[in-house]
Amino acid sequence: MNGRVLLIIGGGIAAYKSLELIRLLKRKGIAVTPLLTKAGERFVTPMSAAALAGEKVHDDLFSLTDEVEMGHIELSRAADLIVVAPATADLMARAAAGLASDLATTVLLATDKPVLMAPAMNVRMWGHPATQRNLERLKADGVHFAGPEEGDMACGEHGMGRMAEPQTLLEAILDMLPGTGAENGTAAPALPEGLLSGAKVLITAGPTHEPLDAVRYIANRSSGRQGYALAEAARDLGARVVLVSGPVSLPVPEGIEIIPVETAREMLQAVRDELPADIAVFAAAVADWRVENAAAGKMKKEQGTPRLNLVPNPDILATVAGMEKGRPTIVAGFAAETDDVIDNARRKLQAKKADIIVANDVSPQQDVFGGAENTVHLITAQGVDSWPRMDKQRVAEHLMRHLARMWRDAKRSRAAEQADS
Ligand code: CTP
Repeated sequence: MNGRVLLIIGGGIAAYKSLELIRLLKRKGIAVTPLLTKAGERFVTPMSAAALAGEKVHDDLFSLTDEVEMGHIELSRAADLIVVAPATADLMARAAAGLASDLATTVLLATDKPVLMAPAMNVRMWGHPATQRNLERLKADGVHFAGPEEGDMACGEHGMGRMAEPQTLLEAILDMLPGTGAENGTAAPALPEGLLSGAKVLITAGPTHEPLDAVRYIANRSSGRQGYALAEAARDLGARVVLVSGPVSLPVPEGIEIIPVETAREMLQAVRDELPADIAVFAAAVADWRVENAAAGKMKKEQGTPRLNLVPNPDILATVAGMEKGRPTIVAGFAAETDDVIDNARRKLQAKKADIIVANDVSPQQDVFGGAENTVHLITAQGVDSWPRMDKQRVAEHLMRHLARMWRDAKRSRAAEQADS
């Protein structure tokens, strides 16, 4: 991934998050040109932005040297995408009005590149009709928005107005950078919602139940939430989603085809029946063993204590990832680990031939089980990407976008190979 982002940092307490955004972008190989507004400079120093970006910071419309070396027109011309984070109420208002009163607004007025704004302000400022009017006007002008989000604010209030987290902004930026349809100058960038249009996504979720007899079974505590959230995220990105689900007590999500199963073997059969698929995500907590000598009727106590003969269940992920014909383009698995999270996940990636393993750190200090938040590491052949702690819903959304991009890249390189041969 490459490309260049012109990052306009406005004057808000959320500006410190933009430094983290620079770090995340650089890690993806994306060049960042920082541009600080006068107010922005009161929250982060040009020095720290420059050090992180490894580039000069621009802040002055009337800098003679800058105009000679890189004028404001050139600044926007050199970028693939302009990001405004934090986009304050003032910056939004000036941009909506078409003012060119400083370098930031001049660039915004002069550019023909896609613009992404990450608003950040007090809840009442956000809710004010003036700001909402400016928001609508900017949207009508083709500006894209990420956030704001609901939460506690620096001012001690709670509500809508927190700037989106750097990781969320990174995902939105990756969706808008060249190669996504955004590269054609004034053309509106491809909406993230359409990332999976035309794709079929197959997901397994929940536990499996392995019968001991007609009424008893072995199970585990999987709630199925992660898999269901992933299915909804894939649907929201425009995919056709088939969810092969073990027994769970979750509502059936709209617009998703559910195939209910009980056992691991039924799950495998349902998955096979649903292939081919573009992306397969194995989020189910499949029972590793089943009872070979399960009784057809109900076992009675008088018959004595039964001896259960356990035999291994098929590994659905490994079976599908190892298919020579009809393998989905992207195969993703999960790993719940308490120790040596990354090493264990790496081993699983190789052993099961998956394209990506999403490792959950479930050590007690992480408080993942039953908790609302999750710490995940994405393990691929290329390396490890560790995400900050975030709630499970958001993990699902980010993950689906990530898989969508992997799918798109794989398709693209396959097309390039075919063109070469
Ligand atoms: N999986 C599967 N079929 C199985 C077992 C696991 O499809 N019979 C998939 C799961 O859906 C998940 C991944 O494989 O994507 C988890 O692998 P597993 O080896 O079971 O790892 P853990 O559940 O983390 O357990 P352990 O480390 O104890 O092996």
